[in-house]
Amino acid sequence: MSQTRTQPRNILVTSALPYANGSLHLGHILEYIQTDIWARFQRAQGNHCLYMCADDAHGTAIMLKAEQLGLTPEQHIANMQSEHERDFNDFLIGVDNYHSTHSDENRELSAMIYKRLRENGHIASRTITQAFDPEKELFLADRYIKGTCPKCKTEDQYGDNCEACGATYSPTELINPVSAISGATPVEKESEHFFFTLPAFTDFLKQWTRSGTLQSEVANKLSEWLDDGLQEWDISRDAPYFGFEIPDAPGKYFYVWLDAPIGYMASLKNYCDKNGDGDSLNWLDYWKKDSTAEVYHFIGKDIVNFHALFWPAMLDSADFRTPTKVCVHGFLTVNGKKMSKSRGTFINARNYLDHLNPEYLRYYFAAKLTGGVDDLDLNLDDFIAKVNSDLVGKVVNIASRTAKFVSKSGGVLAADLADEQLWNQFVEAAPRITDFCEAREYSRAIREIMALADAANAWIAEKAPWSLAKEEGKEQEVLAICSQGVNMFRALMTWLAPVLPETAKKAEEFLGVTLDWNAATTPLAGHTINKFKPLMQRIEKTQVEAMQEAAKESLAQLQAETKTVTGPLADDPLAEQIQFDDFAKVDLRIALIANAEHVEGAGKLLRLTLDLGGETRNVFAGIKSAYSPEDLIGKHTVMVANLAPRKMRFGVSEGMVLAAGPGGKDIWILEPHQGAQPGMRVM
Ligand code: 2FM
Ligand code: ZN
Repeated sequence: MSQTRTQPRNILVTSALPYANGSLHLGHILEYIQTDIWARFQRAQGNHCLYMCADDAHGTAIMLKAEQLGLTPEQHIANMQSEHERDFNDFLIGVDNYHSTHSDENRELSAMIYKRLRENGHIASRTITQAFDPEKELFLADRYIKGTCPKCKTEDQYGDNCEACGATYSPTELINPVSAISGATPVEKESEHFFFTLPAFTDFLKQWTRSGTLQSEVANKLSEWLDDGLQEWDISRDAPYFGFEIPDAPGKYFYVWLDAPIGYMASLKNYCDKNGDGDSLNWLDYWKKDSTAEVYHFIGKDIVNFHALFWPAMLDSADFRTPTKVCVHGFLTVNGKKMSKSRGTFINARNYLDHLNPEYLRYYFAAKLTGGVDDLDLNLDDFIAKVNSDLVGKVVNIASRTAKFVSKSGGVLAADLADEQLWNQFVEAAPRITDFCEAREYSRAIREIMALADAANAWIAEKAPWSLAKEEGKEQEVLAICSQGVNMFRALMTWLAPVLPETAKKAEEFLGVTLDWNAATTPLAGHTINKFKPLMQRIEKTQVEAMQEAAKESLAQLQAETKTVTGPLADDPLAEQIQFDDFAKVDLRIALIANAEHVEGAGKLLRLTLDLGGETRNVFAGIKSAYSPEDLIGKHTVMVANLAPRKMRFGVSEGMVLAAGPGGKDIWILEPHQGAQPGMRVM
């Protein structure tokens, strides 16, 4: 049972920092919604709760991606960060600060923590041998090496395991290994690496992981690893690498996962520095060893080792406090299937936001989230049914059925409750709802809330104020029933406010009060309310279908861009070869660009009208970053004229123009000699 606390708690909450390397998808959003609901719930109760996040900006993948895009890593991560911040904002994720691991604060803190680990004898160094790309002049992580499986001989297998037969091996065992970056044959090369001596923390971690910091299923999993014996952790990478150089080790960089969790601290430090001391704590007050503040990390189950082994051990060595809890959630599936790019079940945050209200998803996730690590399924039919039935059909309905009768009799709520027994159900449920929210058992809190909404609706239906209102002398009775209706709506909305912050604001305007968690079950009496306005629309199936279409299209666009940007050879050195006959099937024609225009809502596309000499084609081309429509009109170019038409969100694309270049501003369409006639076949 929840206790009444006199002292507000000081709480720091974080979500895993997304890589500054790609768009956010609904799997990310699940975690941010889970975290945001918890932070809002803490604040609603009167606790002081800061929610910190940042982009995770370092590593080889980000460095290579920036290079492919023709950008500096700094430009690339700045672009990604602004996209991520916009998604956070539009999903109503109320972070107090969104920073970057590529920041001054993180550089200083990472160096400071590293030096402390070193002073404490927790950094070892030794020379190791690794695969090296002699063309690109960089060391290759396993995932950047491809070759033929040594067991089943399937070609084109990545690094250390075969997708065809499931064998695991070391990349040196691959037959005909090649660098997935340049296509060169890797050579072996030695280099000195730095290691964090994790095994020295075995006893500490055995105790820490069992001290209430983790869900039991997570602690059990970690026990297996702890019993098997921990390995030293390689925390250095050689240049070229996008990250922070290691103090006193020129040309050596911190591995991205060393400075990523320090990014939680860095974001808080940046926030505290910007906001002054005020009445809040200094960043160190949260992180010092004897801190009375609480620290909660929300993460997915794939990154438990980093947060529940490496991170607490580093913190312990560097004389900082360890997290109060690491809250682990499961993965998101869509219609029962893993979100996957190849299966087309991948939905980006923006695909959703372009078509649906963020609160629908916030509610659906809340209704299904538990404190455990089970996967959560977004079943799209269930999503529509649940949101429409619970939010529109139950909660909002209570207000829309009763508010008008209160307004008719002057807008002032009755002094007394019409049915105390019913109200007591709300009073009794309140501490259970609070406890479920604290324990991240949101689905159980929502079940309580919806059971009360059902009870309220059944009672209103039985009382039928709309019929009583037609009878003489029943005004007071109607007012009493409807006042209780409004009060029940207020209690429910108070509990739903962390899930539905925008609707809660509208409810506050209607009720003329601030929703207060601690006063949810103290009825408003003799209080004047405002005119009721519709609070939420139903979801239409067509909106969900439009989102799915958009998701497929973004995926196709992404795949097309990867091809345009990197070229199949750079992208995949083992790209399948085709025979001349295959090539001969491609009907390349000279086309006159009769018109070119922007496409509303499409970030990268231009709509081209191509004249093939008597026939015109509508083609969407991803060349907006390099050309303005007016640069193109009147030019000749080369198109693939026999590509099957493809339906896109903006219309049907009837072909493809040929272009090449590294990307961004540097994409060039083919421009044949002006003497070329539209429709002419290109040999
Ligand atoms: O797995 C990931 O997406 C990482 N970028 C999470 C980092 S969390 C923290 F340690 F920074
Ligand atoms: Zn194999």
